[in-house]
Amino acid sequence: MCGIVGYVGNGSSVEVLLGGLKRLEYRGYDSAGIAVLDPRGELAVRKHAGKLGILVDELDAVPLSDGPTGIGHTRWATHGGPTDANAHPHLGDDGRLALIHNGIIENFAELREALLAEHPDTVFTSETDTEVAAHLVGNAYRASGDLTEALREVVQTLHGAFTLLVMHKDLPGVVVGARRNSPLVIGLGEGENFLGSDVAAFIEHTRNAMAIGQDQIVTITPDTVTVIDFDGNPVAPEAFTVEWDASAADKGGWSSFMAKEVTEGPDAIANTLLGRVVDGEVRVPELEVLDDELATIERIVLIGCGTAAYSGLLGKYAIERWARVPVEVELSHEFRYRDPVLNDRTLVVSISQSGETMDTLMAVKYATAEGARTVSICNTQGATIARESDAVVYTHAGPEIAVASTKAFHAQVTALYLLGLHLARVRGTLAADEAAELIAELSGLPEKLASVLEAHDSIRELAHWMTDARSVLFLGRHVGYPIALEGALKLKELAYIHAEGFAAGELKHGPIALIEPGQPVFVIVPSPRAEDSLHAKVVSNIQEIRARGARVLAIAEQGDAAVLPYADVVIPIPLATTMFEPLLAITPLHLFAMELASAKGLDVDQPRNLAKSVTVE
Ligand code: G6P
Repeated sequence: MCGIVGYVGNGSSVEVLLGGLKRLEYRGYDSAGIAVLDPRGELAVRKHAGKLGILVDELDAVPLSDGPTGIGHTRWATHGGPTDANAHPHLGDDGRLALIHNGIIENFAELREALLAEHPDTVFTSETDTEVAAHLVGNAYRASGDLTEALREVVQTLHGAFTLLVMHKDLPGVVVGARRNSPLVIGLGEGENFLGSDVAAFIEHTRNAMAIGQDQIVTITPDTVTVIDFDGNPVAPEAFTVEWDASAADKGGWSSFMAKEVTEGPDAIANTLLGRVVDGEVRVPELEVLDDELATIERIVLIGCGTAAYSGLLGKYAIERWARVPVEVELSHEFRYRDPVLNDRTLVVSISQSGETMDTLMAVKYATAEGARTVSICNTQGATIARESDAVVYTHAGPEIAVASTKAFHAQVTALYLLGLHLARVRGTLAADEAAELIAELSGLPEKLASVLEAHDSIRELAHWMTDARSVLFLGRHVGYPIALEGALKLKELAYIHAEGFAAGELKHGPIALIEPGQPVFVIVPSPRAEDSLHAKVVSNIQEIRARGARVLAIAEQGDAAVLPYADVVIPIPLATTMFEPLLAITPLHLFAMELASAKGLDVDQPRNLAKSVTVE
């Protein structure tokens, strides 16, 4: 939540900041603002409620005199509504200092009270938690004349999660940043340097990056980067090269990022498998450091939020089946606060596309403190959750910009399956020929998924017929159940339609009461040919709802004759082993939610009230 960008160098900071904010807008889009030092040495601020485009139009109409030092912010409102006044940057030191913030300063009210007691003439112009930090840093700078020290002094007094960037009118060519539990990375250019919430902020300019650790402060000038910890000790930041380039984070001719990302599902699977299948065996090099522990762990807990948690539900089915270890799946925010039983024989696996979700990060820290081993499944290089874990298995889905997660889901499930097969090998729980068959089929899934995408036009048509739907239900059984949950989540978040996913077996225990004539119900039908198939049971469920007037929209194996007589619409998917069906069945539901939202004229990349990277609890 909230995107942050900072720039010092030789170019136009307005251009760099707006370009960075455009790429960070997925993090929040309630308001946007920038501060730059103009050529006369004046600090100029422009900020506006609403999406970045409003600020861009305003800057086009009335340009700012530009200079090569600036900071920019795109907001997801926490304290104070999305108004012009609450938009960042906020000012301190009588308008000479500008500050932007991502996170929540939990003790802002006490800090503000103390500040007003000491400086009763301080004027607050917003309802944000951030503004108090701007005043505090401004006052500290006035006293010491050292911006880095001023920020260091103030962060000691803040509680909560924050990334802060500050600049001062007296200091052209200097931006200082601090982070605790919120993300911040450095981009290294030639005669210019950048700061950003993630590498997307500066990927147009450089792929050379550095990660900033917890509780560290960074000062950038056009030619230097200095990092210290909150105690003032020097720190050598870890350098890395970004694996993708600016074109990967562009729409590339698609109508939306989501449209592009859904079609990248096959690549997300293939790239996540890359280098992890050696001589027909799954070997995840990043996990090998933990192999001794993996051989003896007694329990696995998978944690995540939203779509990531649903990928975890699929991971449970696969890991228990292949590696015979008990697996629990829990939402990160529930896990941490219920005093879970953990020890050094527990493996806690966090799943997060961004690697920054605060609920998941806090749960990982909690697990570590309780003595559990931790592995993260993460799509963002150098992300905080990855750095806090004992090992990280990166998914290689490429940058995911649309708020609703799609290709990252495919990559996460693939990584969990790799974890299951890796564990099965280490623990000797799966016969070699069975493992080899699974691996061969997994490797062939990208091609099968590409064929599912061919149904896009018919799914668009279906979505167009259904724009008036007020409620849509989703039923699935076994591995189809998490798909029902994920399908419903997508429809809620994108099309703002009431949607619920149910375990098909649970139907008769309550949900069937919801069925009335015309009620649309998506049903994920297992393959009749797959081993241990629950096909017959799900077909009975279809008959039960059909008898009560439901409109049945089935996702079923190509040529499944048993479903045809009872379904109003059948979306065919290719044959796959039970465990792999979900990776094929989810895509029609992602496409359906996207197309229904588009048909209603909604913004599929930036649904209302949401943000992609939820960095507050
Ligand atoms: C937000 C996004 C979801 C995402 C969830 C978890 O709610 O809107 O699309 O699934 O966060 O995000 P993560 O980055 O941890 O996977």
